[in-house]
Amino acid sequence: MAKRVILLTAPLLLFSQVLEQKCDSCHSRQIPYEIIYKRALLKYSSKNRILENLTRFLTNPASTPSILPPGLQRRFDPSTHPVFDEKSAKEAIKELIEKEDIIKKFK
Ligand code: HEC
Repeated sequence: MAKRVILLTAPLLLFSQVLEQKCDSCHSRQIPYEIIYKRALLKYSSKNRILENLTRFLTNPASTPSILPPGLQRRFDPSTHPVFDEKSAKEAIKELIEKEDIIKKFK
């Protein structure tokens, strides 16, 4: 089963370009996309609202509420998250949603 997931998601991952170039350096080690997606889904319920709110977070982390639980917010201060322009932020979040959605379907 694990093998199948890798084969099916490989083509998709090739298109996860913004995520890979601008986010993987940190997120492949800490705060995995899976946690971000689960937390965002709990807080915002729909993909459109996740896209809207996480894009806002990435363009202005200091004044957007965090989706992380208090324990994680104390460990990693969300207001110091790197800032991205709107276009890259939106594209990265679209890729994140798509990637997590596909992985979830095959688990
Ligand atoms: C320099 C390392 C670094 C880079 C680069 C980085 N992140 Fe993060 N990210 C973190 C850390 C640490 C946290 C946990 C603290 C926080 O929430 O800011 C985090 C948290 C987040 C969160 C949850 C924010 C919250 O608190 O609600 C999202 C969403 C996120 N990152 C998306 C991205 C995306 C998308 C990219 C690429 C466009 C990216 N990050 C690039 C380190 C990074």
